[in-house]
Amino acid sequence: MAGSEQSEAQEELLFIFENGDKYTNPTEVKMSQFILPCHANHRGELSVGQLLKWMDTIACLSAERHANCPCVTASMDDIDFEYTLRVGQVVNIKAKVNRAFTTSLEVGTYFRFVGINIICEDPLSGKQWKVCNAFATFVAKGEGPGKVQLKSIVPRTPEEKIEYSIAVERRRMRLLHLETIKDLVSSSTIQKEPDFEESQHVVPAEKTRVETVELVLPPHANHQRNTFGGQIMAWMESAATISASRFCKEHPVLKTIEMFHFRGPSQVGDRITLKAIVNNAFKKSFEVGVCAEAYHQEGWERKTHINSAFMTFVVLDKDGQLSTFPCVKPEPGDGERRYREASARKKIRLDRKYIISCKQTEVPLSVPWDPSNQVYLSYNNISALKTLAAKQNWVLSCTRKKAKLFTLEEDQLLFFKAEMTVSVNIKQVFLLLSDMSRRHEWDTHYQKFKLIQKVDEDDVIYHVISPSVNKAGNFQDFVLLASRRVPCADGDPYLIALRSVSLPAAPPTEGLDRGEIPCAGFKLCQKGEACTNIAYYIQATPQVLPYLTRDITGLSSDVCKIVEACNEFLEQNKDTVHPLGSVTLGGT
Ligand code: COA
Ligand code: ADP
Repeated sequence: MAGSEQSEAQEELLFIFENGDKYTNPTEVKMSQFILPCHANHRGELSVGQLLKWMDTIACLSAERHANCPCVTASMDDIDFEYTLRVGQVVNIKAKVNRAFTTSLEVGTYFRFVGINIICEDPLSGKQWKVCNAFATFVAKGEGPGKVQLKSIVPRTPEEKIEYSIAVERRRMRLLHLETIKDLVSSSTIQKEPDFEESQHVVPAEKTRVETVELVLPPHANHQRNTFGGQIMAWMESAATISASRFCKEHPVLKTIEMFHFRGPSQVGDRITLKAIVNNAFKKSFEVGVCAEAYHQEGWERKTHINSAFMTFVVLDKDGQLSTFPCVKPEPGDGERRYREASARKKIRLDRKYIISCKQTEVPLSVPWDPSNQVYLSYNNISALKTLAAKQNWVLSCTRKKAKLFTLEEDQLLFFKAEMTVSVNIKQVFLLLSDMSRRHEWDTHYQKFKLIQKVDEDDVIYHVISPSVNKAGNFQDFVLLASRRVPCADGDPYLIALRSVSLPAAPPTEGLDRGEIPCAGFKLCQKGEACTNIAYYIQATPQVLPYLTRDITGLSSDVCKIVEACNEFLEQNKDTVHPLGSVTLGGT
């Protein structure tokens, strides 16, 4: 296992300037820690709480390097732990700021290992392997009560540019996370709890309850007396692990942590109460919820809810196989609600992992659309387009009048780009091109359009029928998710991303060949006051390949005609008041 990861883990980002200087990101921070018995549990394994403390510390140092003022942890995204670390091994952690927003910034690391990058090393054999990644968000806290406006990050390397651009999408997902869970729970008909009376192996949830308290002392806090986020996470992990052990009566292994969100601060002198209980057990894993509240120095009357987290544990038997668990009988009221919410979280976690862990353009097209994964598919749609647009080595294949066509062959995939500049204001171009119901006015492939679902202001799902590729063939149809984004900051492009989705409301129909588009879309950049550069990207699939290659090789000019028609359409409508014109176009 470790060996196979070795070369990947050792890969260092190396960016050389034209003058030969090696580039190092100014916010990059590295930490190496020997795992000593004081960092480990009784089995000699590194405690996850200790790892969280190190992760938070290094991420905070990186954030403060950029902010030049104290920063506090606002959130730590979901973490999947892939390996257990042991006494005697070395943990190498690297972090850098991916992007600064207004008062907050995202800390992550390199392209291959995005997130706070943790590599474990066995110093005796020299082997290295990846342990986990994470992204943390910090908020800058200046001296006074006012908000700190952070300076922007200037990404230099191609990898930094991609991370910089995708950080906006991760932020969007983070801020929608709670709503996504609430929506799923309120809209789903999650199966009723099993019949606990009849089930033989049932553990009453109250038997797993843990309530404990910690006093925040100076070593737990920074020089401004604010408790370190990593310390709170470590206490929460410890309470959750006790609850988990009470349930499984074994030594549980922590596999995943749902996003930590620090709702409120705590300070030296506060008492932190930690309450944990098993919310639900699935066959081979179970969820423990833990809630942290701070009682402020004045007494036990005034408290702040500072954090809630949900952790998934497993147990490995002596052969390394996953053990099976009994059912949990939740307490009436809140316990039953948490039991159902744990199921919803598990579903969302699996969807998210499936959609996000795939390479951007490799998400299976069969990913079915549903309200609980819409945020992740929309994320994937936009970030796949951003990744495609950031690719280098495009080869100019032909120039026709206003349009330039490019190709890119990479990893056995073929991509196309068509580029032109129009004398139309960028906001107007964005409004016109993101209105899919008007695409037939310039694109002959959009013969019939039907809106299936307006998901929100920025995402729509539609069905489109296109002529057949071959003269004798069937017509084709596509079900596409269109996601659009206005710039988050000056200099960001406007984007309209397209990808196929499947949903029961639009099943394949007889007589139509269902085509699929894994990644396509427009990137718009302002060129002066009234001009817009439009780049259209598409990943080749059997359904679109023939059109594109015929043009590239000069056998047809279909694509170029469409590009020209698009130009004409935009010019003709440059002053029309658009029905979508009321949509805010200022920034997210
Ligand atoms: N994940 C990531 N960022 C988040 C977030 C979340 N769940 N919730 C809010 N933010 C970001 C916002 O996007 C905003 O960033 P921006 O200015 O770059 O747009 C920033 O936090 C401030 O948001 P705002 O809505 O103005 O403030 P808030 O009242 O929600 O406060 C915190 C956010 C994080 C400052 C506040 O909850 C806090 O002080 N938490 C405790 C932090 C702490 O002390 N941590 C250490 C451990 S106790
Ligand atoms: P929610 O109830 O919506 O899950 P909370 O923030 O109240 O959110 O709690 C988070 C988790 O902490 C709960 O899911 C539960 O597992 C645990 N928890 C909350 N309150 C208690 C308590 N009094 N005793 C034990 N565990 C608790």
